[in-house]
Amino acid sequence: MGLAPRFYRDATEIEEHTVGQIDPVRERLIETYRKKAKHYDITSRLYPAPCYPQRAQRLRAVRALGLQAGDSVIDIACGTGLNFPLIEEVIGPDGRIVGVDLTDAMLAQAQDRIGTNAWSNISLVQADAVDFDFPTAVNAILSTYALTQVPECAEVIAHGAAALCRGGRWVVLDVKFPDHTPGWLAQLGTAIVRPFASIDEWIMRRPWETIRAAMQEELADVSWTELFFGTAFLAAGSRGPGTFGIRPPGSGHQ
Ligand SMILES: C[S@@+](CC[C@H](N)C(=O)[O-])C[C@H]1O[C@@H](n2cnc3c(N)ncnc32)[C@H](O)[C@@H]1O
Repeated sequence: MGLAPRFYRDATEIEEHTVGQIDPVRERLIETYRKKAKHYDITSRLYPAPCYPQRAQRLRAVRALGLQAGDSVIDIACGTGLNFPLIEEVIGPDGRIVGVDLTDAMLAQAQDRIGTNAWSNISLVQADAVDFDFPTAVNAILSTYALTQVPECAEVIAHGAAALCRGGRWVVLDVKFPDHTPGWLAQLGTAIVRPFASIDEWIMRRPWETIRAAMQEELADVSWTELFFGTAFLAAGSRGPGTFGIRPPGSGHQ
């Protein structure tokens, strides 16, 4: 919070950006991801568990967006851009991706990926997800393995839902604490989220429930699928006719 959104086209500029006026929790999170950024693409393959089918689940999340060629997609907390190739494959050069993330070093890796693939239709924004000013009438919003780390996740869902075009899709893939947990699995689950926040706080807060409730509140046709013994979930919903015009005047997200 308090970090003015910035657009980047140059990796050097991202690296040089200094973080000011943000709360200590965010600062700790940024420091954590600065350390992880360089090797994130490799280490994240073990996330949330060594045999978890991460690429298949990413693909499933991207498919749940129902994309078509030429679509616009916002990737919230995009990290190093692991979703970009899967999205690019469908939207093609006429589409557009905006990747948003809090951590400069993760965006620098994303910028490298963009350069390596010579994609000219992706822009990166360094911003806190809750402060991000969504462009209007976007076709789809995706967030993978990140939104449960954002305490204001319900606000992010609401802001995004209001920015979608009619029929636009919001998809969240993330980890959760399983409801009926064998002891070993509970320990594994707590180990994977430890770098992001106090695990006790995360379990107490139950952000996956907040995300589910916010999606049900803001979107139509919401689906919820538990994955990998309940340690992850895929949630998806659309902006339907019934979700238009229900916001109070002056909310700024119509
Ligand atoms: C586990 S990584 C996931 C990255 C990517 N979405 C993926 O699927 O590989 C979590 C990312 O969320 C970002 N993040 C955490 N809190 C954030 C916030 N409040 N606003 C924006 N990004 C945030 C971190 O900087 C990090 O890049």
